[in-house]
This record gives sequence, C-alpha cells and structure tokens, in this order.
Amino acid sequence: MTLWSGRFSESMDSTLWDLSESYSFDHVLYHHDIMGSKAHVRGLQSAGLLSEADTQILLSTLDQIELEFDRGIFVRAGSDEDIHMAIERRATELAGDIGARIHTARSRNDQVATTLRLFTRDALDQLARSVLDLVLALGEVGAKTPGAYLPGYTHLQRAQPVLLTHHLNAHAWSLLRDVERMLDTRERVDVSPLGAGAIAGTSLPIDPEVSARELGFHETFANSMDAVSDRDFVVETLFDLALLGVHLSRMGEELVLWTSAEFNFAQLGDAFTTGSSMLPQKKNSDVAELARGKSGRLVGNLTGLLVTLKGLPLSYNRDLQEDKEPLFDSIRTAHLVLASLAGAYRSLSFRTEVAARAADDSTLVAIDIAEQLVSENVPFRQAHEMVGHLVAEAIERGVSLREVVESSPEFERFSDLFAEGAALQRRVSPGGAGPLPARRQEERLQARISQLSARLQD
Ligand code: ARG
Repeated sequence: MTLWSGRFSESMDSTLWDLSESYSFDHVLYHHDIMGSKAHVRGLQSAGLLSEADTQILLSTLDQIELEFDRGIFVRAGSDEDIHMAIERRATELAGDIGARIHTARSRNDQVATTLRLFTRDALDQLARSVLDLVLALGEVGAKTPGAYLPGYTHLQRAQPVLLTHHLNAHAWSLLRDVERMLDTRERVDVSPLGAGAIAGTSLPIDPEVSARELGFHETFANSMDAVSDRDFVVETLFDLALLGVHLSRMGEELVLWTSAEFNFAQLGDAFTTGSSMLPQKKNSDVAELARGKSGRLVGNLTGLLVTLKGLPLSYNRDLQEDKEPLFDSIRTAHLVLASLAGAYRSLSFRTEVAARAADDSTLVAIDIAEQLVSENVPFRQAHEMVGHLVAEAIERGVSLREVVESSPEFERFSDLFAEGAALQRRVSPGGAGPLPARRQEERLQARISQLSARLQD
C-alpha cells in the first residue's frame, strides 16, 4: 500500500509500478530531501502547526533516517515509490502519529523541486571546483616546460608559433567561462519552491520565507505554479555540462593528436594510457578519447530533457520525473572526465624539441617577412603578394623558404627572422602568443581564477 492509496480500491499494476517508481535512481537525493524536510518541519513549527516537542521528535527522526542512509542500512519497503515517500514512510514508522504530520502543507511537487534544487546547487559547486582544478592542471603542464612552444594551427595547418602556455591557456579561458556559467546558473537554482504545495499553495498559515531562509536559499518562489513545474534550472545545468563536455572533447581530441606518432608532441603517463589486447606495441590515449566520446551523452541529456519539457501543460506532470536520470548522469560523467583529464595533463610529458622543430618550420616566418616589409612602409597587400611569390618559388625549387630568402639579394636582409624561436619572440601584440604579452595574460588569468574561486566561497 502506498501513502496515497486512500481513494483506490485496486492496487497498482506491476507494469505501472515498474514504469513509475523512481526510488531506484532518486535515492541518491536522500541527504537533500532530508534537509528540505527539516526546513519544512521548522516552517510548520513557526506557523504554529507543530508543537515544539513534536518538532524536536521529527527533527531527530529525520537525523536517524539520514544516518540509516549514510550507513547503507536503510531498508526500502515494497511500497516506497520514490525517495520522498520512503523517508516519510520511515518517519511515520519511527515516530508514529507525529511522523504522519510531516507532510502537512506540502506536496511531493514542491518537495521534489526543493530537493532537486538543493542537490543541483551543491553539484554545481563541486563541478565548478573540479573545473578549476583542471585549469590548475593545465597551468602545471606549462610550468614544467617553461618557454616551450609549438606550431599554432588553423584548419589544422601550421599557422604561427605559439607558446605552449598560450595554447593551454586558450583552453583555460574556455573552462573559466564554464565555471562562470555554472555560478550564474547556481544563482537561478538558488530559489526555494517549498510552500508552493501541489500547485496553488495551501489554506494553512505557512510562510515559505521561513523554510527558504533555513535552507540558505537566496530567494523564495513568487508563483506556486511556476515553482512546481519549472525545470529550467535542470536544463541550464545540463547545458552548462554539455558545453563543458564540448570543451573537454576538443581538449581530448588535441591530446589524441599530440600523442600520435605523427605529431609526437607529447606523451601521457602510463597510468593514463591503455594497451592493446593484440598489438603489444600500442599505448593508447583512451582517456582523451573518452573525454571526446563522453561529450555525446552530455549533449544527449540536454536535448532529451528539452524534448521532455516541450509541450507540457502547467503545472506539475509526471513527465518531470524524467529530469533526474539525465541530470545525475551528466553530473557523474562530467566529474569522471574532469578528474581523469586533470590527471592525464599532470602526467603529460611535452616533447619540447619536437614541437619547437615543427614550430620553427621556415614557412611560418612568411608573415614576419610581410610584416617587416609593412614596417618599411610597403602596403600590406603588396607585401603579402611579394612573400607569396617567395613561398611559391620555394615550393617550385623544392627548398625551404629560408633558403630562398637567404639566396635572394632583395630579401636576404630578412634572414635573421629565421633564427630558432625568432618568430615566437615577435608575437608581441597584447593577448598574442609570444613571451612578451604572456605575463599580462597570466596576470589576467590568475585574477579571473581568484575572482571565480571567491565567488565559489560565497
Ligand atoms: N518522484 C516524483 C518526481 O520525481 C515525485 C513527485 C511525484 N508527484 C506526484 N504528484 N506524483 O517528480
């Protein structure tokens, strides 16, 4: 018998039970559900709906139930449809009639929304911390090989040399936007729906502000129908994680390339690679491939929930129960990828010489010759054309651009530009890839990290 079976004469068909029960996945919400219930109990007391003595009994009963969950000894009853009913059923078992008062002026509709917001708020904090740790891991890679540089690519063709730290920081900036986005989402998660009841509030004299304050919510709902049916906060969280997943996927793809024999720019530590069951020589970058592969489910979870929500009439509908599995899956997936990628980067050895050799490819100096001509007052388009001819000549003669320039009386004065690392040194404009602007960027990056960390402490 379920807690709501009063009006029913037949028990639920087992196929419907299997379809509708959510305890099997929502039991992970127990801590936040109990938190919400305790705040609700305090709210009932302050409304004069619970005596001081009953309040104390209910609070300690809820503590005891939490302990049972913590210790893994909570026993689900056959009638426990979801985590909310399981806890209420147990509270009534333990505290009798007093337990049966806990659901006064509350519905599972405002209860589940409250629980899920509390859960999501904590999850976003933890995820933001994991993302910040990955940013630190990227910083450590650069710090291990100061001055390392590599070719920067556009269209996956070598374009210009860039400092390794500049390259890694490009990822760091996108990850910091992810952190910022999560913290922005957190602000919209931080609204209490408790007190909205099933849809329209209650005739009992509760004040939703009391439980909201108790739970540390920043705000209380303004509209009970919106409060019980709004899942924007789940969608936003799934979006944040989908976009994070896209960023992690791009980083993964890059590690796959860098660790291939063709690039050979880097090697992952043995602890972060796998062997082949057949080919003894193989050392595979599975961690990077999974960072890439897992992004699919992160995007899928977002689109799945959007489709679930589309077309739902106000207000609560059971379809909303479908918000949980994608949310739990995305949170778990993001944590797994973040932690293993951070470890993978920390294990990375960057092959400074191989990367520098590729970056010192003499054709990458073409733009420097053109810009040198510009500083001699040649219009850029003409300079581009002149250097284009030099490149064509090099290709035609099957020699390097450097050889063409050194053997040309007209351009030989630019020979110095081909010195090792010279092109990198010349990337001087603010935000550029050379050592000169690097310090300013580093300051800005550290300032952003501190700012976001401080926001996370709030
Ligand atoms: N397990 C349900 C959910 O996740 C709880 C709310 C059920 N409410 C109801 N009126 N059936 O949404």
